[in-house]
This record gives sequence, C-alpha cells and structure tokens, in this order.
Amino acid sequence: MIFLQSRSDLTVWDGGQAVPRSWMLEHVSDAEGLYCLLTDSVDAEILIKASRLKVVSTMAVGFDNIDVAECSKRGIPVGHTPGVLTETTADFAFALMMTAARRIVEGAAYVQNGQWQTWSPTLFLGQDLHGATLGIIGFGRIGQAVARRAAGFDMKVLVSGSSRNEQSKDKNEPPMKYVDLPTLLANSDFVTLHVPLKKETQHLIGARELKLMKKTAVLVNTARGPVVNSKALYQALSRGDIAFAALDVTDPEPIKLDDPLLTLSNCLVVPHIASASVTTRNKMAMMAAENLLAGLKGNPLPHCVNPEVYRR
Ligand code: NAP
Ligand code: GLV
Repeated sequence: MIFLQSRSDLTVWDGGQAVPRSWMLEHVSDAEGLYCLLTDSVDAEILIKASRLKVVSTMAVGFDNIDVAECSKRGIPVGHTPGVLTETTADFAFALMMTAARRIVEGAAYVQNGQWQTWSPTLFLGQDLHGATLGIIGFGRIGQAVARRAAGFDMKVLVSGSSRNEQSKDKNEPPMKYVDLPTLLANSDFVTLHVPLKKETQHLIGARELKLMKKTAVLVNTARGPVVNSKALYQALSRGDIAFAALDVTDPEPIKLDDPLLTLSNCLVVPHIASASVTTRNKMAMMAAENLLAGLKGNPLPHCVNPEVYRR
C-alpha cells in the first residue's frame, strides 16, 4: 500500500471484512484503476459504474471473480499474479496431502485432549505417499510444480488436462502419464485439483466422479471451491465412497459454520491459505501493484489476462 500511496491517489477499503458491495459501487465511479482481491466480484454492474476505469488488477492468479469478457469489451486490461505463488501453493497442496495421509490433525488433537496413554503399533495408522499414485487434474504451473514434488516422493503420477495428451508431452516435464479423467480418478490414491474455475470446470468433481474414485482415496482441493460439488462430496465422504478430503477452498467462502462438511472427521478445511507465505504474498502484492501502475500510465500490463485489448 505504501508503494502505491506514493505513486497514485488511493482510496482504500480497510475494514476487516471483504469490501462491501455498496462501498465498491460508491467509490468505483471516480476510479481509473481498481486493485482488487479474489473476494471482490468485478462484474458488469461494477464496470458500468466505473466509466473512467483504465485497469483492473487482482492480487491473485485466479481471476474467476472478474468478468474478463466485459472488461475486454470495454478495452480494460486485467492484471493477475501468475508464477510467483506457484511453488508456495504446490508446497501447500503437498502439505494437505501429507496431513490427510498421516492423520496429523487427528493426532495433534488426541495429544491436546490428554488421550495419549502409550505408544501402540496400531495408533493412527495412515497411508504412505511414497509409492502411491497421484492424480493431478489441471497441469499448468501449479499442477506441474506438484508433479515435481511427487517425483521426489517416488509417486506414480497421472495427469488430466484440457488440451494435453501423451503426444504433447514436453521432454522437460517430470515423469507422468496423461490419461482421461475417469482413468485418473479410478487409479489414483491421491487426487489434487489445479484447474481454474470457469464454466467447464464448475462441479468438475461431482457424484459420478467421486463414485469412480478408490474408497481409500484422498481428494485435495487448492483450486477453487465450486470445482467440487460440495453436496456430492459430503455424501461421498459420509458414505465412505472416498476416505478423506482436504480443502483449502470451499463453496461458498467462508464456509458456513453449519455446512455439513464441517461435521465430518474425514474432512479437513482450512481458510484459503495455500499461497500464504510472507515472501509469496509480498511478491503477489508487488506484482499486482506493478500491473495497476502500468495500466494507469497506459502501458501494457506485465501480466495481463486479456492481451487482446492491445490488439484492437
Ligand atoms: P495455469 O497455469 O493456468 O494452469 C491451469 C491448468 O488447468 C492449465 O494447464 C489448463 O489447461 C488446465 N485446465 C483448464 N481447464 C481444464 C479442465 N477442464 N480439465 C483439466 N485441466 C484443465 O494456472 P495455475 O497458476 O496453475 O493456477 C491454477 C488455479 O489454482 C488458479 O486458477 C486458481 O484458481 C488456483 N489457485 C489457488 C490458490 C490458493 O490459494 N488456494 C493459489 C493459487 C492458485 P489448458 O491450458 O490446456 O486449458
Ligand atoms: C489464490 O487463490 C489465487 O488465485 O491466487
């Protein structure tokens, strides 16, 4: 914020909660630049109000909260933060996988509750990651970073991606096999999601897909909540169709306290923190600020979601 304060005339929402819609609608009409978070819905209503807007910059790599088509129609470039959060997010997907496999949260609660009496050969038996099969859905920056980690764990890796197949394999890619989604689901011990949220990926994992998975499988979601049908996930977890789900993202966010998923001992939910390391969040904030300042000056954004606006 200090970086931007010295370079622009800023109006900042600094309430503890997400920006109220009414506040955004009130202030956007004077704005030439909009620096937003993934909690802010930048839709046609906002864009109609924002008649002076030259740039939208989000401090995230995902931009499903922004109506990019509407921005493009108005010639407004949209900036995001690809790359700088890739490794941190992949670390976290792995952390969730290990936490689920080795029952770390349950074990910690057991100690804290004073239940630990003695070492036992069968206490908190879990699953091995090494030697297991990992299914990666969405093989972009983060999916590939997860595959690199999986290689170090001697995991077998299956990948399903929208436009990739065995023929399009790059020799620098970590060892893995491209398969279709049903094959990936049926053969993976761990399934991790790394697709962007869009029409085609909404409820990509629903009742039918969960049914295809192994009963012992762990599902990890660090992509976006609506990629998984949460009602179907609840059914699958409570019936034992899959063993565990570890969710960094939910639908909606924050998850409602009375959401049935929170009643399950085989579901771990954390509050959308996969990219939350100090270094990475600083890089994301700076990258978003640089996108914003470039747009305000009328220069091309260093990381633009809709470069077609420059070709008009
Ligand atoms: P990316 O490099 O664009 O990768 C996304 C990949 O998903 C692309 O390879 C894309 O393939 C593939 N894909 C798209 N539709 C698909 C489908 N229907 N089935 C299978 N694959 C599909 O993006 P990224 O940087 O890895 O980030 C991925 C997403 O992670 C972001 O959009 C964001 O929502 C989420 N994220 C969350 C956090 C967090 O804090 N939890 C942090 C960072 C990112 P094609 O190019 O072939 O379509
Ligand atoms: C976080 O979820 C991001 O998309 O950067």
